[in-house]
Amino acid sequence: MEFSEVLEKRYSCRAFSDKPIAREDLVSVMKAGTLAPSACNTQPWHFICVDDEEKIARIAKCTQKGGLGFINRFTPQAKAFIVIVKEKPSFSEKVAKVMSSRDYSPYDIGLAGANMVLKATDLGIGSCILGWYDEDKVKEELNIEKSKSVDLIIALGYPESLDAPTRKRKDFDTVHSFNSYGEK
Ligand SMILES: Cc1cc2nc3c(=O)[nH]c(=O)nc-3n(C[C@H](O)[C@H](O)[C@H](O)COP(=O)(O)O)c2cc1C
Repeated sequence: MEFSEVLEKRYSCRAFSDKPIAREDLVSVMKAGTLAPSACNTQPWHFICVDDEEKIARIAKCTQKGGLGFINRFTPQAKAFIVIVKEKPSFSEKVAKVMSSRDYSPYDIGLAGANMVLKATDLGIGSCILGWYDEDKVKEELNIEKSKSVDLIIALGYPESLDAPTRKRKDFDTVHSFNSYGEK
């Protein structure tokens, strides 16, 4: 697929078919994540792919916590989840963080996630990034050290329908400028 087509076609898919995803495709999606840029090339991630049916059901439950759980009611249909764990920074990374007084790791994780959903689209696989989940329960289910954080989860599956929803976006004119804020 042409890159611009991938960008156009990606959307948050919330209805998946029963078709399983081949392991090699899941690996390709994770490898795309590893190609993302990261501050000082820290690559502060570890990807856990959950493709075991019982585990999928348990992780889906973690994404339906509390009052907002209804937004993720579709997640039991996912055929895989990629859980992005943020790795603890090394000593030199900690020093860099203190010196720059900024923590760039959320951007790094987001960029890895973006690469993965775009690769999934390229393979015809639907995806939805999830930020709403019970982090402690996910850690418990996947044997993740308490001191690490689970920063994003990506639900994957083949789309149930080929009709992609219309992408709702702010008017382009209101979100861009040239040379000075608000200047066209
Ligand atoms: C950090 C992040 C967290 C998100 N969390 C959820 C979520 O928990 N559940 C959900 O259904 N969609 C979630 N989304 C998807 C957004 O709702 C979606 O990207 C947005 O509405 C734009 O739609 P599009 O992805 O189809 O273009 C999340 C997206 C991002 C980037």
